[in-house]
Amino acid sequence: MKLLVINGPNLNMLGIREKNIYGAETYEDLKHLIEKTFAEKGIEGEIYQSNHEGDLVDRIQQAYFDGTNGIVINPAAYTHTSVAILDALKAVMLPAVEVHISDVKEREDFRQISYAGKACVKTIMGKGFQGYVEAIEYLVEHYK
Ligand code: DQA
Repeated sequence: MKLLVINGPNLNMLGIREKNIYGAETYEDLKHLIEKTFAEKGIEGEIYQSNHEGDLVDRIQQAYFDGTNGIVINPAAYTHTSVAILDALKAVMLPAVEVHISDVKEREDFRQISYAGKACVKTIMGKGFQGYVEAIEYLVEHYK
């Protein structure tokens, strides 16, 4: 099984940005946790991050052609704005799990809509980095 973890804008700034919301652990720490989870589950995995909407769309499309079996995606701010990312997820028809580090439900009104989430089989939010582990476990359990 091959999974792709996609992180959107500003998630490369974890450990620096709004630590009261996202915690003090860095993006490198997140990558290590995800890689450890891939190894423990005995699956192939890739981690991708971009601050650019079109690049995220390109990477989702690529997943259709490169043998990816499932996607874990935190589209970050594009969650609340991007029909293009929603359409890309629908286009590739791969099972996708949406992850948010913070509990978006408890935050500002403008964060209450998730476009990407409409194409996802599950959403995990408010569990910090552990949400990525749960998302990988879910895809392995249901789609391996
Ligand atoms: C986020 C929540 C989004 O609203 C925000 O724009 C982010 C991160 C999260 O992981 O909690 O950048 O997706």
